[in-house]
Amino acid sequence: MVQERRILYEHLDVPDINTLEVYLQYNGYRGVEKALKELDPETITQTVSDSGLRGRGGAGFSTGMKWRFVPRDITPKYLCCNADESEPGTCKDRYVIERKPHMLLEGIIIACYAIGINTAYVYIRGEFTAGKKILDAAIEEAYEAGYLGKDILGTGFDLDVYTHPGAGAYICGEETGLIESLEGRRGQPRNKPPFPAVEGLFGKPTVVQNVETLANLPFIVLNGAEWFTSMGVDYNPPDAEKPNPMLVNTGTKLYGVSGHVEKPGVYELELGLTCRELIEVAGGVRGGNRLKAVIPGGSSAPVLTHYEIDVPMDFTSLQSAKTMLGSGGIIVMDETVCMVDALLNLLKFYAHESCGQCTPCRWGTPWARDIVDRIEHGEGRPGDIEKLQDVANNIANIDTFTWETICVFGISVSWPAVSYSRKFLPEFEAHIREGKCIVLDRDEACVSPEDNYAWMKSQ
Ligand SMILES: Cc1cc2nc3c(=O)[nH]c(=O)nc-3n(C[C@H](O)[C@H](O)[C@H](O)COP(=O)(O)O)c2cc1C
Ligand code: SF4
Repeated sequence: MVQERRILYEHLDVPDINTLEVYLQYNGYRGVEKALKELDPETITQTVSDSGLRGRGGAGFSTGMKWRFVPRDITPKYLCCNADESEPGTCKDRYVIERKPHMLLEGIIIACYAIGINTAYVYIRGEFTAGKKILDAAIEEAYEAGYLGKDILGTGFDLDVYTHPGAGAYICGEETGLIESLEGRRGQPRNKPPFPAVEGLFGKPTVVQNVETLANLPFIVLNGAEWFTSMGVDYNPPDAEKPNPMLVNTGTKLYGVSGHVEKPGVYELELGLTCRELIEVAGGVRGGNRLKAVIPGGSSAPVLTHYEIDVPMDFTSLQSAKTMLGSGGIIVMDETVCMVDALLNLLKFYAHESCGQCTPCRWGTPWARDIVDRIEHGEGRPGDIEKLQDVANNIANIDTFTWETICVFGISVSWPAVSYSRKFLPEFEAHIREGKCIVLDRDEACVSPEDNYAWMKSQ
C-alpha cells in the first residue's frame, strides 16, 4: 500500500503550529535563516532550477525558469502569491494558509530574496476569511520577530508583505486577472505577451506563484536540489545533456481527493504515483461501487474513464493522456453518476464565471451549457452532440492544442465538454434517444462503463 510522503503537510495537525512560537519549535524559519545568511540570490535561483520544481497552481511551469525571465535591472519588482484557490475540486492551499502560514511566509521571503523583490502581495480567496485572519496574524508576528520589514535578520534585505482578499470571481485566479484585480480593476485577464515576469503589477516585473509552489522553497533551500529530485519522476534520459523541464516531475504534490471515495481529503504523495493508487490511499471507491470516471486536475481537466486510471499522476504523463495535473484536485465519480449531469454542473459554473472579454468564451460557454442542459432535461435534438463539440472546439481545440481566447479559461470550458461527450458518447446519445436520464435506472446497457469502453475501442 502506497504511503503518504508528508513534507509540506508534516506537523499539520500540531496544535497552534500556525503561531510563530510553535512553528519555531519545528525547525521554523531555518530555511530563511540559511537562505539569507548563507546563500546568495543566484545560488538559490540555481538550486530551485536544479530541483526541477514546477508550479503547483495549474500550468506546471518551471519555477526556476520563470525567475530567470525577470529582468534584474528593473525596480521595483513584485511577487504575487496566488492564494485564490478557485478551481473546483481544489482545497490544498487552504490548509497551508490556515495551519502553516509561517511556512508560506518563509517561501515568500526566500523567493523575494532570490529575485530581488521588496514587496509581496498574497491575493487570497475572499471566502477564506478565517485563513486571512490567521495569515495576517502570522505576518504581524513575522514583522515583530524581524523576519519581515527592514533589514531582515540584519542582512540588509527589506521585505513588506500584504494580504488582499478577492471578491469571489474564479477568473481572478488567472495570473493576469489577479494582477488587474490587485490594481483595483475588474479581474479581466490580459493578453500575453508581455508575460507578468516582464511586465506585470503596475507595469513592473512580477512573479505570480501558487501557495504550494512557494511552500516548497524552504525545504529545497534546507535540503538541496538533489534531495528534491530524489522524489517523483524524471522522464529525461539519465545522460541528457540539457534535460527538458517539461519531462521533470520532482517532489511531492498535494492532491485533494473528493467525490465518491471512502476517505476524501488532501493527501501529499510523491509525483508519479498512479491515479489508481491515489484512489486507494483515499480509501477506494465508496461502498464498493464501481468506478466510472476521474477528473485528475481540477474541474478544467479532461475526464479519465475508469479504464485510464493507471496513468501516473504527474504533469508529463497526464499531458500525454490528453488531460492535465492542473491544481491536483481529483474528483472521483462512481457508477451512479450521470456524465451529462456532471458536465452540465461544470458548464453552469463556467458560464457564470466567464469574464466576457472574448466572443468565443462569452457566447460559446453559455451556448455549450444550454445544449447540455436540454440534453440532460430530455429535450436533446439529433445533432446536439456534434453542435456541442463544434461550439467547444471553436473556443479551444483539444486536438490541436490551440485556443481562440485571451486566457486559457476557454480550455477549461472546451476540454471537459469535448472529453465528456466523446468518452461517454453512448450516454449522451441515450439521453437524446430516450428523452431522459437513464443512468440510475440501469435498464440501458450502453451507459455502463464497460459499454462506454467497448464503444471507445470501436472508434
Ligand atoms: C481560469 C484560471 C484560474 C486559475 N486559478 C488559479 C488559482 O486559483 N490558484 C493558482 O495558484 N493558480 C491559478 N491559475 C493559474 C495561474 O494563472 C498561474 O499559472 C499560477 O498562479 C502560477 O503559479 P505557479 O507557477 O506557482 O503554479 C488559474 C488559471 C486560470 C486560467
Ligand atoms: S477566455 Fe473567457 S475568461 Fe478568459 S479572458 Fe476571454 S472571456 Fe475572459
